[in-house]
Amino acid sequence: MSTDTGLSREAVPAAFDVGASAYDRLVGANPGYHAHLRLSAQRMRLPDDGRGLRLLDAGCGTGASTAALLNAAPRAEIVAIDASGQMLDQARAKSWPPSTRFVHARVEDLAGAGVHGPFDGILAAYLIRNLADPDGQLRALRDLLRPGGTLAVHEYSVRDSVRARLMWNAVSWSVIIPFGRVATGDATLYRYLHRSVADFDGAQRFRRRLREAGFTGVHSETMTGWQRDVVHTFLATRGTG
Ligand SMILES: C[S@@+](CC[C@H](N)C(=O)[O-])C[C@H]1O[C@@H](n2cnc3c(N)ncnc32)[C@H](O)[C@@H]1O
Repeated sequence: MSTDTGLSREAVPAAFDVGASAYDRLVGANPGYHAHLRLSAQRMRLPDDGRGLRLLDAGCGTGASTAALLNAAPRAEIVAIDASGQMLDQARAKSWPPSTRFVHARVEDLAGAGVHGPFDGILAAYLIRNLADPDGQLRALRDLLRPGGTLAVHEYSVRDSVRARLMWNAVSWSVIIPFGRVATGDATLYRYLHRSVADFDGAQRFRRRLREAGFTGVHSETMTGWQRDVVHTFLATRGTG
């Protein structure tokens, strides 16, 4: 699928390959990035430090969201997948417990990569916006959950707030795009990031999308700092019925 974002959705993982070595440096300069991922993982309310639970980090990148899941559930088994081999290389180079493993796979083809449910919880941080068929994938993620399991989508969503749209444009043009160009020599991924967020669902629309994908208990909470009303945790449950 071609988009007006300058990058087809299928080409997004390859663009992350190009940006992989600079990724941690860039997100590390973003105040709140790691703390907000940890907050989203904590909002999943995983019981008993995750003892006996199986968790999926969908679109784990260099492992920032995996570390957040591990912080919320240090005793869980974690499967972390990503379609970008170079983002995964960065993740694997870090130190992880044996209960955390990384798999090179597109979220659209988890079974083909040997990744099967059921999972007790799934975190998808900055992934869903990048997918060609978000509705189909939300349904597939629901099917991977055990009844009663929780999906947390950690994502930018600015459409419902004028202040958030202005903030996103200001941060994109003054920081993300110029710094991304300097760090990697190519601004394509960062212009795509700006456009894809500007075009993505408002929070209300995305909550409806989750309900339409068959989730129950759908709600969302936002962050603090410049990311207030810009970054959200969307929480949803696979019903037990
Ligand atoms: C912005 S990064 C986020 C990484 C990590 N979750 C974090 O919070 O730092 C988005 C990741 O999604 C991955 N991705 C994009 N499309 C994908 C797909 N169809 N299947 C699996 N991973 C995908 C990219 O390769 C990239 O590593």
